[in-house]
Parts: sequence; structure tokens; C-alpha cells
Amino acid sequence: MSSRIVVLISGGGTNLQAIIDACTDDNFPGEVVAVVSNKADAYGLTRAQNADIANVALSHKEFASREDYDQALIKIITGFDADLIVLAGFMRILTPSFVQHFQGKLLNIHPSLLPKYQGLNTHQRAIDAGDDVHGVSVHFVTEELDGGPVILQAKVPVFQGDSSEDLAARVHQQEHRIYPLVVKWFAEHRLNMQGDHAILDGNILPASGYAND
Ligand code: GAR
Repeated sequence: MSSRIVVLISGGGTNLQAIIDACTDDNFPGEVVAVVSNKADAYGLTRAQNADIANVALSHKEFASREDYDQALIKIITGFDADLIVLAGFMRILTPSFVQHFQGKLLNIHPSLLPKYQGLNTHQRAIDAGDDVHGVSVHFVTEELDGGPVILQAKVPVFQGDSSEDLAARVHQQEHRIYPLVVKWFAEHRLNMQGDHAILDGNILPASGYAND
């Protein structure tokens, strides 16, 4: 049976688009059943509309607390009977109760080679540090911000004179390759989380994810 995927966004949704596009392949074992944004003007919601996918704007500004917001979000996601929740540029810190509720079913993409540069401004931080390699990580979400087990990373070079926009664009290209692939593994039931580990085809993945060379 096809996996039911709910994607959470806050912005442009290019990763969402890559996953929507991947799902149009008849052999892809999943479908995006809903897109939820905490920002009503996020372009990703338009992408969902264009693809005839249910979409919901749930503004955090209408809730008194982070806990209340996340409980409302749980209700919406549960209403779509989600097998997998994909964070694709969802720029909010999740409460422990949200993370626990969907433990093992929550994926995130983060624009750095974790554990480097958890948090914000990752591209500028890589440039400021003089790194010659930067990249992106897809990982399971745990209660530690950007700290869950890594599933797959992609590396990009950092060139002399790169601006953070140059680097972000280079990283984005790789994001669009690796995120649909990891979603596919999950939908094929090849990928899961056990304790602090990501498991692919029965093998514990190393700290930097699958095939990190
Ligand atoms: C992506 O670069 C993603 O890695 C980043 O937000 C961008 C969303 O782009 N996520 C984070 O920074 C999470 N901490 P998109 O809206 O075009 O997919």
C-alpha cells in the first residue's frame, strides 16, 4: 500500500516540489496527501494547490503556546492518516510531545553536514569557518534540535568568493536529489529508526549516514 506522506513547510517548498515530482512516478510507493505551512503566504502551499494536494495554513500566531500549536498540528496530521511526516524547510522548533508522538516517522532536511552547524545561517557559517566542503543532511527527528540520526548526506565544494546565496543554491541542488531518495527508502519500508540509530535494509547506518564518501 502506498505510504501517506504529510509535508510541513514554511517557505518556497522546492524540496516539497522534488518530492511531489518523485511521487508522480508509478513505481514510487508513496503519495503526498497534505501540505501544512505555519505561514499562510508560503509559496509551497501554491505548489500543493497546483498538484491538487490538500493544503492547510496553520499560523503559529493564533496559538498561545508552542505546546498548543503542536497539539493542533498533531490533530491535522493525524486527520490525514500520515505514515510519514516530512519536514521540508519547516522553520519551527518542535515540542518533545510532538516529536514523541511521531517518533520514527519524522524526517528533516538540514543544510549542513551534521553534526556541523546545527541551527540557522549554516551556509554563512561554513564560509566564515573557511570550510572547503559543505553540504546537506537528511535525518530522523529526535528531541535534540538537528541532532537525530543521519540517514544520507551530500557534499558540495565551497569555492573562493562564494556568497552564502551561491552556496545555498549549490546545496539546494543536492537536497532535491537526496530527499526524494530517502523518502522512497522509508516508503519501501527499508528504513527505520531504532533507538539512536537509523537502520537501512537491516544495517545500522554510520554517524554520517549511508555511503558517505
Ligand atoms: C532548505 O535548504 C532546507 O535544508 C532548509 O530550508 C530550506 C527550505 O527550502 N531547512 C532548514 O534550514 C531546517 N533547519 P525549500 O522551501 O525550497 O525546500
